[in-house]
Amino acid sequence: MFLQIILAITSALTTGAVPSPQQVKPRATPNCRFSPTYTQAQILQNPNPFISDVLYWEGKFHQNNVSYNTYNGMSYDGTLLDETTGLATAKHPFSAASKESLQIMLYAHAISGSPQAAQFLSPEDPGAAPGIAIDIMTLKLKTYLQFNQTFPGFGGFFPWYTGDSQDIVPTWDWVNRVPALDNGELIWAVYSAIQAMESSSNPNYQTLAKKWQAWLDYTKLTAAKIFYAGNGAVCSVTDIGNQSFSINDPRQTYKCEGSGTLNDPYEGELFTWWLYFFGGLSENDKNLLWVVKRPQLVSVEYNMGGVGPITVQKGYWFSAHEQWKVMEMPYYDVDLVKRLFTNAERARTCNSVVTKVPGMFASVNNSTDPTTGQIIGYISNAGIPSISNQTIQELDVITPYSVFPVVLLDNAVGMAWWKNMADGKKMQNPYGSSESTRVDGTATSSFVSWDSKITTVNAILGGVTDFVRQKMKTDGIYNDFISVTQREYGAVFQNLKGENINFCLPSEKVPDEGLVDYTQCK
Ligand SMILES: *[C@@H]1O[C@H](CO)[C@@H](O)[C@H](O)[C@H]1NC(C)=O
Ligand SMILES: *[C@@H]1O[C@H](CO)[C@@H](O)[C@H](O)[C@H]1NC(C)=O
Ligand SMILES: *[C@@H]1O[C@H](CO)[C@@H](O)[C@H](O)[C@H]1NC(C)=O
Ligand SMILES: *[C@@H]1O[C@H](CO)[C@@H](O)[C@H](O)[C@H]1NC(C)=O
Ligand SMILES: *[C@@H]1O[C@H](CO)[C@@H](O)[C@H](O)[C@H]1NC(C)=O
Ligand SMILES: *[C@@H]1O[C@H](CO)[C@@H](O)[C@H](O)[C@H]1NC(C)=O
Repeated sequence: MFLQIILAITSALTTGAVPSPQQVKPRATPNCRFSPTYTQAQILQNPNPFISDVLYWEGKFHQNNVSYNTYNGMSYDGTLLDETTGLATAKHPFSAASKESLQIMLYAHAISGSPQAAQFLSPEDPGAAPGIAIDIMTLKLKTYLQFNQTFPGFGGFFPWYTGDSQDIVPTWDWVNRVPALDNGELIWAVYSAIQAMESSSNPNYQTLAKKWQAWLDYTKLTAAKIFYAGNGAVCSVTDIGNQSFSINDPRQTYKCEGSGTLNDPYEGELFTWWLYFFGGLSENDKNLLWVVKRPQLVSVEYNMGGVGPITVQKGYWFSAHEQWKVMEMPYYDVDLVKRLFTNAERARTCNSVVTKVPGMFASVNNSTDPTTGQIIGYISNAGIPSISNQTIQELDVITPYSVFPVVLLDNAVGMAWWKNMADGKKMQNPYGSSESTRVDGTATSSFVSWDSKITTVNAILGGVTDFVRQKMKTDGIYNDFISVTQREYGAVFQNLKGENINFCLPSEKVPDEGLVDYTQCK
């Protein structure tokens, strides 16, 4: 009964819910602690003022020495915050290709003149945003090319690196090792940014596009050599004989680390596509890439607390992070995939209502220890156990970025959930939203990261699929993408159940257990 009321009041699903740029007007400086000043009803009625404030404050993360290094243009992983003031204390001087991907997607929008990206990057002077993004992309490319010179064994790809000096170096635990998944995310982000630069009328932007294209083209030559293990298998992590030897050096070697293969039907697929289209594989090998992946693409029904059945793609944990691929490639051009992924968000939002959780789950950093200020641990196994491959999960911490796949489909409902988590004590700080809060309100994570913040920002911007689609058409690979996606999903999913169910809205609040908001964000 209770649930039916909730379902009845959720807004109907709308297509194309991402606001057109002219709907977004830069406003007066919003209050740092703006989230509780809005009601859920206000956001549902018109999410744009709230979104404008979100972009403004998430943009404060985009600062030298907090989220990136202005001297070399490279992302930093994130920064710990003072438990009392909320000001940055110790940054993570390292980062990875996945964070680079989030940074570059944002710049693709800024370069193309998006007012929303400008509200994030340069709210006081929106017209400066494209130039800011281009300057950082120029520096970043210089750093990428230098890295390739010094460590040619990576073939242009990136390990986790330390980025706080001019030239970046692999972190100690990634010497002679490189991951596929993060690099897949990076490659398609660069692809989108090149499209944005090429489409510009500014000849300098077009020149920069050509230089980035040369970097991207180089990864086409090296991708299979480094990551393709034969018989359709792709290495999750490749061990490099010696990162200082060039890729063609006779002493150089590449082999998969352990038995780990990249065969997931989630975000790891971004790298599979790169190999498929540009890796220079034989038709037989290209086909085998999908044969190997096929057993992991599984249909399952969500059915809990009177909600369901809802047909969804079985998750690994069903962490929101797993949906990353739809932010970068135009999967939603295949109607079946869009409907299936909409079902996933029906399950995600309604699951938190039936289990009475004030937010949603995604792999995330645990709370910080209030005495040491250090992160207690990383919770990978957070999602929805009943529709996942991995059923043992830790479900005590929620995170604002769990909304990003909802935002891509319906930004009003997505932002209503974001507000519900940001309303929790200490969940807003001088750099926007905080990493995570315990469901029971007893602790939060005084940390800010690209993953927990800028996934949502990129979803607000609509992902980069419009840029990627356009370039895929130019490259003559778009039709093949659509037909393979249709073939793989169509073989597993025919009749979807639950498509009449609306997204659910939060009904519980994060309890006030006496935590005190940051003094610098009141
Ligand atoms: C950069 O941030 C670190 C903490 O992460 C701080 O110790 C250092 O002073 C900052 N450097 C500059 C130049 O602001
Ligand atoms: C990367 O380095 C290799 C080896 O020095 C070189 O052949 C290649 O052209 C470089 N790639 C780019 C994009 O400059
Ligand atoms: C790689 O080779 C260089 C030059 O031959 C050598 O100095 C270095 O120790 C090797 N590095 C690693 C990480 O194995
Ligand atoms: C959690 O911490 C890791 C390591 O510092 C970081 O890479 C990641 O972006 C953080 N947040 C999430 C949501 O994974
Ligand atoms: C997260 O923190 C809670 C205490 O706040 C602890 O009980 C739990 O074991 C931690 N989990 C991980 C994976 O760090
Ligand atoms: C999880 O995935 C593996 C590999 O596809 C499969 O063997 C296993 O049966 C799956 N387990 C569940 C519970 O879905």
